Order: sequence, then structure tokens, then C-alpha cells
Amino acid sequence: MSTLENIALGIDIGGSSVKGGLVNLELGELSSKKVKIPTPIKSSPQNIIKVIKEIINDLNIDKNIPVGVTVPAPVKNDVIESMANLDSSWANINLKKMIKEEIGIDAAILNDADAAACAELQYGRACGEKGLIFLSTLGTGIGTSLIHNGAVIVNTEFGHMDINGIEGEKIAAGSIKTKEKLNWDEWVERLQIYYSAIEKLFSPDLILIGGAISKEHRKFIPKLNLKTKVCPMKLKDNAEIIGIGYYSSKYNKK
Ligand code: BGC
Repeated sequence: MSTLENIALGIDIGGSSVKGGLVNLELGELSSKKVKIPTPIKSSPQNIIKVIKEIINDLNIDKNIPVGVTVPAPVKNDVIESMANLDSSWANINLKKMIKEEIGIDAAILNDADAAACAELQYGRACGEKGLIFLSTLGTGIGTSLIHNGAVIVNTEFGHMDINGIEGEKIAAGSIKTKEKLNWDEWVERLQIYYSAIEKLFSPDLILIGGAISKEHRKFIPKLNLKTKVCPMKLKDNAEIIGIGYYSSKYNKK
């Protein structure tokens, strides 16, 4: 059952859409519809805040529940220092402060892949796993997070790792498959290069893959030739919303 004590609101700012939903913190699942609004063409902080407001109004939330927002960028003390896939005016924005000023709520702010890691650790495939887990989301960019013996290591940004002079996410993100019209085998070749480099550098015990494209994991995960076990994330493309909901309930208590 969803009561006010075990509910949080999670909002995930992405390169193609901004999504939000209420999270049942006991079950680790959405307890409302998922509201999905296309990312404004000018994806400035001001325009995204308007979308966040729309999502909050649509879900008609109780003002006492914890709220969390993920961003596709590293987050240091609530400040976005650089932004790869949204408007460059995000640099040096304190999102927590801005949300407080514009919407009047206290929100926890976290990188999107780190939020997904919180969700997988608490409710998903990383739950109870020992050793080093390399988590990656293959969307507009490549989001990454590390989980080691139950702790999430934030702001890792290995999507920007240099591979033969090109950033990893520019060759292997989910969006690249669409943009370059790659078939599954062609895209798997790219993923193979990316994850071989990751495997060599980190020797992980498990690689988790998420992002909307991970719903089609059967078409690419079995084709990867790696020593490390590779699994799709359990919470799929809801992991960011669920993870930031959980994180906000822990670290942004009202
Ligand atoms: C950003 C990361 C983000 C990832 C997925 C990358 O371009 O630098 O912070 O996690 O995209 O959205």
C-alpha cells in the first residue's frame, strides 16, 4: 500500500524527455503513472524548470513528500559544473537553489546514472552483490556509476572516456545507434570496443546495462564477448526515477 511515509517523487531530466513519477519506496516501483514530456528544444535550466513544474502539477503531489531530480551531468554540492547533452547555460547552475526559488520545494539533486545505481542497489540487480559493479546507461549519452560492496561512487563520467581519440558515448550510446542507423550487429561492434576498454581498466565483477534500449537486451547482450558477467538493469528505464526517489527520502528528509 502507498502511504505518505513511503512515497517520494522522482524526476529524471534527460536529453530527449523529462520524466517523473511517484515512487513506492517499500516496493521500489512506480506508484503513479509516468509523466513524460519532451525536453524543450532550448534545453536551458529555465525551460526545464517549467517542465518540472508541469510534472509536479500533473501528479498533484502532497507537499510533504521527498522530491529528487536527476541531471545528465556530474553534480557537486547541487551545482552542475559542465553539461554535455543539454544547453550549455547549465554550467555553474545550483539546481537545488533554483528549484527552491522557482517552485518553492526542496529537491535532492543527483547525476542520473548514480540515481540508477541507487535503485539497482536498493531494489534491483546490485542488491546483495559483492565486489565491483560497473553500471552504464545507454541513452542520449552514456551514464556510468560504480558500486563497490554496497556503496555508490558518484560522478564517474566514464561515458566520456577516450577511445581511439573519440569519447565513448559518441561511438556507442543508444542515441548513436539511431542517429547513424546502425543495425544491432554494427552497434554491438561499438559496444564491444567500449566494454572491452572498461573491462581492461576496472576488472569489474558485474556490468549492468540500462537505458530505454536495454529493454531489447536480448538483441545485444548475448553478442558481447567479455569475461565479465553482463546483465540488463532490473528497473530498466524507471531506474533513474526510482533511484532519485529513494535517494531523496534518505538524504533530503523534510
Ligand atoms: C553525462 C553524464 C550522464 C550521461 C547520461 C553524459 O553525457 O556527462 O553525466 O550521466 O550523459 O545521461
